[in-house]
Parts: sequence; structure tokens; C-alpha cells
Amino acid sequence: MNNSVLNLLSYGVYVVTTLDGDRSVGCIANCAMQITYDTLCVSINHDNYTNGCIKKSKKFAISILGEHVNDAVIPTFGFNSCRDIDKFEKTKTVKIDGLDILTDSVGYVICELTGEFETETHTVFVGKMTAGDVLKQDIPMTYDYYHKVKKGKSPKAAPTYQEETSSPKTVAYKCKICGYIYEGDITKEPDTYVCPICKKDKSYFEKI
Ligand SMILES: Cc1cc2nc3c(=O)[nH]c(=O)nc-3n(C[C@H](O)[C@H](O)[C@H](O)COP(=O)(O)O)c2cc1C
Repeated sequence: MNNSVLNLLSYGVYVVTTLDGDRSVGCIANCAMQITYDTLCVSINHDNYTNGCIKKSKKFAISILGEHVNDAVIPTFGFNSCRDIDKFEKTKTVKIDGLDILTDSVGYVICELTGEFETETHTVFVGKMTAGDVLKQDIPMTYDYYHKVKKGKSPKAAPTYQEETSSPKTVAYKCKICGYIYEGDITKEPDTYVCPICKKDKSYFEKI
């Protein structure tokens, strides 16, 4: 199986907020998406404090981050737990329908929980949109931009973590034309194999 194919999927970067009783909690998630005209879902790791809080409060908000978001937001919300710190202490927010929305976001969506789906590691929370608005002009940040331009990393809890961790023993080949990385032994591919990006044949790949 060539896991690098997963790198071809697109995501944004979001702060998912909810309530722990009266206290605001939340974390970064890239795995959030609209699934019907008024329904969204977000995938949250079982170990994230935010997970149990969404289960109890039965609502969540998604603040959509822009490319010029304050540099402290992703480290604060993505690499710390609400078990240990108050992530909202130094983050400007506005309360909408009881949930904290980051004022430094391009927009937000508020959802009431309508379903949950368990996987081995993550709960996929499904929510019906009850409110939402555009907040400021900026290009919404993509996960790709976060990695390639901001040079950001993702922790283990991110569903996409595996895509970024290639064991040092993994053999990989790089396409000399477009830079596409093939993880695994490309020599085992049939002669008809072509790079999925630039369509050049196997001879254009060099071992890295
Ligand atoms: C770029 C990025 C993307 C992330 N995506 C997700 C995600 O989609 N789902 C998830 O559960 N955690 C994701 N995380 C990890 C959580 O944000 C992180 O584990 C956080 O510390 C959990 O905080 P909490 O314990 O307060 O809930 C991501 C982190 C980063 C930096």
C-alpha cells in the first residue's frame, strides 16, 4: 500500500472549540469538512481532552484559520492540552451561542452534535450547523500551506500524522521532474507505472 497517496487529499486548518462545563476548551483539527448543505463533521482523537467535552456538551464550533493567523494560535491549540493549560488566556475570542470563536479567524461555524462515529483512534463528530459567519479577509489556510510555507508539523493525534512519518528504514523514490515522493520499492511497480503528478515513467525516479 502506498500511503503517500493520502498526501494528495486537501484539508484546511481549524480550531475546534467546545465547553467543559463553563470552561472553554478546544484544539487544532485539519480533519473537518462539510458533508451536506448544513452538516459538517470533525475527527477528534480519543486522547484529546476536546473529545470527551464535545461528547458531553453536544456542541462544537469551528474557527477557520487564515494564512496570516497569529503565530501563537497553532502551537497553543495544537501542541498543548486543555488538561494542562488555559488555551484561551492569551487568545482573543468572542462568545457566540456560548462557544468561543477566535476573532483572528476568517470565519466560523457552530454546530449542534447530531451523530458520532467511532474509529480505533478518533471519534468522527457530526454536527448540524446552527450559526456561522465570515469574520475577516484572508486566504483560508490549507494544511498543505501550513506544512510547506509555514514549515509546520503535526502531532500524533492528528489523523494525518502517519502520512508525515516515514520510518528511516522506508525506501523512497523522488520524481526528478515534479518532486513527487513514492514511498516503497518502485522497482516492483509494472513498467507501465507513471508518476501520478507529472505522468513521467519509472526511469525518472531516483532513490532517496
Ligand atoms: C496542524 C495540526 C492538525 C491537527 N489535526 C487534528 C485533527 O484533525 N484531529 C485531532 O484529533 N487532532 C488534531 N491535531 C492535534 C490536536 O490539536 C492536539 O493533539 C491538541 O493538543 C489536543 O488538545 P486537547 O487535549 O486540549 O484537546 C492537530 C494538530 C495540528 C498542529
